[in-house]
This record gives sequence, structure tokens and C-alpha cells, in this order.
Amino acid sequence: MSIVISRLRVDSMEQPLGLETRQPRFSWVLDSNRRSERQSAYRIMVASAVEGLQQDIGDLWDSGKITSDRSVQIRYAGAPLQSAAAYCWKVQVWDRNGVPSDWSPVASFSMGLLGQDEWKGEWIGKTVDPALELPPGLYLRKEFAIDRPIKRAVLYSTALGVYEMYLNGSRVGDHYFAPGWTDYAVRTQYQTYDVTGLVQAGGNALGAVLGTGWYSGHVGMMGRHRYGISPALLSQLQLEYEDGTTDLISSDRSWTMNSGPIQYSDMLMGEWYDAGLEWPGWNEPGFDEAASHWQRAEQLPRYGGRLVSQIDPPVRITESLKPVKVWRSERGSYLFDLGQNMVGWVKLQTSGPAGTRITVRHAEMLEDDDNLYTVNLRKAEQKDTYILKGNGLETLEPHFTFHGFRYVEVEGLTEEPTLESVTGQVVHSDTPHSGSIETSDPMINQLISNIRWGQRGNYLSVPTDCPQRDERLGWTGDAQIFIRTASYNMDVSRFFTKFMADMTDAQTEAGAFPDVAPDAGWFEWKQEHVQWFAPDNSGWGDAGVIIPWTLYLMYEDRSILEENYDAMKRWVDYLKANSSRLVRPDYANYGDWLSINADTPNDVLATAYFAYSTLLFSRIAGVLGREEDACSYSEQYGRIREAFVREFMDENGIIKGDTQTVYVLALYFGLLPDDQKSSAIRRLEQLIQSNGGHLSTGFLGVGYLLPALTENGLEELAYDLLHKDTFPSWLYSVKHGATTIWERWDGWTDHSGFQNPGMNSFNHYSLGSVGEWMYRYMAGIDADPEQPGFKHLVIKPCPGGKLTYVKAQYESSYGTIGSSWRVDNGRFALSITVPVNTTAAVHLPGQPVQVPEGAEKLGEEQGKHRYVVGSGQYEFVSSLNK
Ligand code: BGC
Repeated sequence: MSIVISRLRVDSMEQPLGLETRQPRFSWVLDSNRRSERQSAYRIMVASAVEGLQQDIGDLWDSGKITSDRSVQIRYAGAPLQSAAAYCWKVQVWDRNGVPSDWSPVASFSMGLLGQDEWKGEWIGKTVDPALELPPGLYLRKEFAIDRPIKRAVLYSTALGVYEMYLNGSRVGDHYFAPGWTDYAVRTQYQTYDVTGLVQAGGNALGAVLGTGWYSGHVGMMGRHRYGISPALLSQLQLEYEDGTTDLISSDRSWTMNSGPIQYSDMLMGEWYDAGLEWPGWNEPGFDEAASHWQRAEQLPRYGGRLVSQIDPPVRITESLKPVKVWRSERGSYLFDLGQNMVGWVKLQTSGPAGTRITVRHAEMLEDDDNLYTVNLRKAEQKDTYILKGNGLETLEPHFTFHGFRYVEVEGLTEEPTLESVTGQVVHSDTPHSGSIETSDPMINQLISNIRWGQRGNYLSVPTDCPQRDERLGWTGDAQIFIRTASYNMDVSRFFTKFMADMTDAQTEAGAFPDVAPDAGWFEWKQEHVQWFAPDNSGWGDAGVIIPWTLYLMYEDRSILEENYDAMKRWVDYLKANSSRLVRPDYANYGDWLSINADTPNDVLATAYFAYSTLLFSRIAGVLGREEDACSYSEQYGRIREAFVREFMDENGIIKGDTQTVYVLALYFGLLPDDQKSSAIRRLEQLIQSNGGHLSTGFLGVGYLLPALTENGLEELAYDLLHKDTFPSWLYSVKHGATTIWERWDGWTDHSGFQNPGMNSFNHYSLGSVGEWMYRYMAGIDADPEQPGFKHLVIKPCPGGKLTYVKAQYESSYGTIGSSWRVDNGRFALSITVPVNTTAAVHLPGQPVQVPEGAEKLGEEQGKHRYVVGSGQYEFVSSLNK
């Protein structure tokens, strides 16, 4: 068989449950051992039962043979899909010679509750006294009986707050912090779990634990009750019996409730868990409620927002770390070093007499050998407290809180711990792994690892700035500058589709996209603390255009452009309305945030971003065939460029502010006419050199610095910056033992130790946006906007610096892309992998020595020889000697 089908996905997920899109999109990956293989046609079948598909009957949809080379994001076009129904599908393709493949394996998907009136239950919980600083967790239960054979059981649940569900004593699903963070006033996500394997004949019991979470616990610096006061649960279990009948067990006043071991559990503060108060068997049938005084649950007010199926991948434990060191402090407490700054919590295993109180505190750094550095946490406590029940070895983990830490201090142990006593549970949105890079330089490899850990630590339901202090907000500027890096490291398509919903929920009536999403009253809080605060910040609000564009480039996702088209247009129009002669005001609050002695004037920054958002929007309009918009916004981009030069560039080519960032933005956003580009490039080079060969860029400039240098013939300078390990530089923190990306270049320095603790996170990913350059330029794996999603890809490696080899892989929607190179005595050897059903343009540096069969020469561009290849593996060799 020349072509084999795998990785069947619906809406970018394998075997998804609870879809809400009525025309889901199908994708698959093709493999072949033949070069230049591609698909010439496909046929999709969707059925309500596997039996049908086995006989080649697609009772819902049989696309028939469609002549097409599309193998990703193909829209369903069959009979209407029904609420809560389960479906299966398969696909067959024809290869480039028209030979059909075998049918793929059968895959499945199910629909969510299509309509708000599909929810039959009541919101239940317990009214919380608003004066209670840290309210206890609430335990809810419900028994029911099953008297006929079950065919399928599906649980739909959500909460205002955070919840865990149990069925017959087993935890339902492996999600944490469900339903995830949204602006609950507008929308709340629900989860769909297939629990067919958990229900049993006879007595059954559902149990739920409810916590405050983002809904009513502490959020950011804004305090508690951002959305409400009393957490509430909504749940319905749909039972389908073999005999065709159905049943519904939904949350209502027949459920009972009680408090239990969770004395409190707060995202920022931590958890207090008294194991002595556990109710053995509470989530199993036959539990004696009367003996333990369970009361009827209260019916809480109806929810006014919209319930939507969870879009983003659930938060899960993705790894468990063992400490590398344990030692005893002078106080008698024990300190553990996990060897990695991480996010999640500690699983503690210990024993001791009943009533023993143990505390676990968390920090990213040590003050000295005996003390955690916790001043940078501000008001967040990240402290967990346990009371032992005293029945032997106890395993303790918190439920509704997470911490950012590398070091842990445990107090109150009654027995000497070992390295086995503590496990670091790494927790984040479970975005599938997609990319990796390795180089010949261990320092750079550590930087790559730090970038990945920064992403793991901060992508938790929303892309947060940091995971430790009382902030942890969805800062949009950070999100946009890092998204391209992130989308190489992991498949973030669903994660950012969800975040775009958060962004549009928070867009102002006037059209401004927020600094922070989901909205949690941050803007109002800020206004209370400063006299006047800009409602729009350049480089922050622009995330509303940059994120959809990036998802389109990386995943060929047109829907994200369609769904957000009006919102993006409103943002660009808002920028225009709030500018004068196309120059934006100088009121932006953050500028090139955390640059080093190099303040970029706000009007320059804001006008540059105004141009960039306009340019991207005009392209987006073009992609969607909205020609009129494409044309008028492209003209507007041209006029903003003129305004930029007119307003900010003097006759010597100096741009107002004269920082590295102003030139980087002008070059990268294409704001300069050709004859002025070279002076900007020269000036940028001078500024770096006169700064001792160091960068000075902040959050925004840093993302485009190496790309702008490389695209303008200064790749050696880009490599110099990458290899620098003196202050300020990426490797400076690596040299000082960093295992994540620091918020600031000067988070800790030789010359002044720790920065001001008021803002000093050691896990902020923004300065790690150099990862994009590593994938796109160093390894040279790039998307082509003309055929996005890597349907046609660009391999344009850029050897340089001290590196003798680079190996990169990226799992695209079409399959694995590889680009690895090695330099030896001026001999450059490039080995690439191109997925089936795609083509690649290869830009080979140097003089070609060996060109593989099947590579067709296209010409030369910027001193590189260009070839085009079909799928397969290829080796090129060139000579770099001049
Ligand atoms: C956050 C940043 C954010 C910035 C905006 C900080 O408090 O931690 O990540 O982008 O504020 O000024």
C-alpha cells in the first residue's frame, strides 16, 4: 500500500467528546515510503454506529470521492448532527497515481448539548457568607439506581467555581480546575465525560467537590469575588439503556451536601486539608448520610451567561518530578530542591500521629541555604497545610490550588523524610507536544528547555504572565509576543481559540481589545490605583489580530479568522479613530515593557503596531475573499507607513527614541521605504555594538530582534546576541542556573542580587519569544502564508555562530517536518523530512555540492540556492567557504 492514514482528528482533536460546532472539521495524516507522495482524492464517511461503517454505509454523510489534495480542516457536510449524539467516521484517500488506500481505522466523536435548553438541572450549592475570607470546600452527593443494561452513559458538568466529580468512588476524568477560567458573567465552559465504564447495575452514587477557583477565590491583585460569592454546580448524567430507553440524573435539590476535609482551597493562597475530617465512602452507594448529618443542597440562582462546551485542552498532571536534594534547616524544617522551576503542587507522602499539622511552602528561589525567597509572591501565599489522620502512610495533595516553585519547605514532619517523600506534580493545559530543537551548544539547549518550561508553567486554562505571585493573569501582550514560539513547541490551536473567545468577551464597546483576558475587573482596579489609564495598549490589544493570524499560518484555520473578523475590524477601526493623521497618541502605558535603559517612545511603538495590525487585517480580509476590505486596509497600511516616516524619522534616518526596538519594529513591520532601510539596519547594528554587543529590548522588541537582524543580512550579529552570556542576555540567566525564563533581564544580577520583589517573577515566558527565531531561522522551519498550515513549507536554515549542529522537528497538521544541519570545516549538510501531501521550498546556504534526486532548482535568492521538493527525506550538502 503506497499510502497509509493515521491521526484522525475532528476539530483538531483525536476522539473528541462534546463538540458544539455543527460542521466540525476533519483532518488526517498520511504516511508513505514513496517520495513526492500526495493525495489526489478522498472520501469521508460519517455514521451513527460502527456497524454501519463496517458495511461502508455512512448514514449521516458519505462525501463520495472528492478530487482534492486537502487532508486537513475539511468541513462536515452531512445530515444535521444531533445534540449529545455519538458518531464515528473513517476516510479513504487516493494517491498521486489514483490508487486508493485502505480505509482508515474508525474514529469517533460526540456532540455536546446543542442549546441552552438541553440543560435540565438546577444550579446547586450552599450560600457562602461573603465575610468568610477562605470558605471551605463543599461536598455534594446523589444516589441513583440502574435496573437495565446500559449502552452509554455521558456526564455533562460545570461549575461556577472549580469542581471534581466522582462516580461510584472513582474520579471522573483527569481534568483539574474544570470548568476552566472564562469571564463567567458572559460564558462558562462545561465538560463532557464518557462514564459508561463507571456506572454499574444496582446502586450508584455521584459525588462532587466544589471549590472557589477563579469564580470567587482570589484572582490577581484584585482580591476575591471577581464574579460571584457562592460556588455552584450544574450537572447531568444521561443514561442510554440497551433497550432504547433513557434516563437523566441532574443536579437538583434531591442532592445532599456537607463540608469535609477541605477547610479552604484558594488558587493563590493554597489549601488547608484536614484528613481527619474525610468521609470514607461518601462518593459510593450505600453511604450512611443520616449518621453524618448531610443536608439538602440549596438551589442557587439561575445562571445568566452562556454555557459552552470546553474548547481548550483540559488541565492535567503531565509529569511527576522527583527532588534532586533534601536537607534539614536550622529550624528543623526540611527543604527540597526539585531541580526545575515548575508549576503545580507537591504530592507528600508521610505518616505521623493523628492531628499532626504539616505545612508545605513553595518558592522559586532560595534567599540563602535555609530560607525560601518568597517576597516576590506579594500577597499570594502558596502554602498548603495538612492535618494527618494518623492511619499509617498518608498521601496528600491539594485539590484547587497551584503554585510556582522549584524549592519546597516542609514543616511539622514527625519522621525524617527521604527524596521519595515529595513529588512535584507538573500541571498545565495539556496542549499536545509538537516541536523540539537541539543544538551543539548545551547553554542554548538549556535556554530551549527554559522556554518550554515557561510555556508549561504559564499555559493553565489561559496564557498567564506568571504562575506564582498574586497576578497570574491572561496578559495579552505576553500572549501575542510568545504565541509563535508556543505554537512550534506545542499544538496550541484549541488553547488559543478559547483565549480568543476570552479576548472578544472582554473587547470594549468602542472596539478596544483588553490588556488582560478574561476580564476580572483588572482595568477598573487599575483605574482606582492610577489617575488615568490607557484603555488600549499597543502590543497588548494587538493580540486580538496577531493570535488569529498566527493560528491561520500554523494550522490553516480559516474559522478563527471568520469568527473573529468583526472583532478584529473593530479593533483596527478603533485604532484609527483614536489617532491623529494616522499617528497614534503617546499614552500607551507599558511601552517596550522591561527594556534595559532604552525607553521606546509610546507614539512610535503604538503607530508601528497600528500599522502591523492593519497589515495583518488586510491580509486576513484577502484570505476570506473580502476584497474591498483587503484593498482599503492595505491602502491604509501604506498611509500609516508614510505617517510613520514623516512623523518619526529625521533626515539622517534616525527614528524618534533611537532605541534598538524602534529600528527592529520599523524593519520587521515593513514600515520603511527601501532607500531608508539600509540606514536603519546600520543604525541598529551600531546601537547593539555601542551597547557592548548587548540587546536592550523589552517584551515587545525582543520578539522581533533576531528575526529583523537575520532578514537584513546580520545573522552573525543575531548569533552573537544569542551566544552572549554577559548582562543583559538570554544566557545570563542560564549561566546563573535558571531553569525557566525570567520576567526581567535583571531578575537577579551579580552586581545587585535580587531585583525589587514587587515585580520579580522567575517564570514569565515573554523574553523567551526568541524560540520563534530558533525554529524559523536557525533550524529554518517556516510556514508559507500563501499555503498555510505547512501545506507548502519553507526550509531556510541559517547556520552561524558557534553552532556545529542543529536538529529540529515539528509535528504539523500534515505530519512530521524535520530540519537538521551540521557544519564541518565549511561543509554544510542538511537533512530534511517533508510530510506526505506537502511540498517544501528549500533555501540552501553556500555553494551546492550535493543536491538530492527529486529536488528541482528554482533559482537563487539572497545568496541562497532555492529548490522545491515533494514529500520524503532529502540530504543536501553545500560548501560555506567563500
Ligand atoms: C505583567 C506582565 C504584563 C505587564 C504589563 C505585569 O504586571 O506581569 O507580564 O505584560 O504587567 O505591563
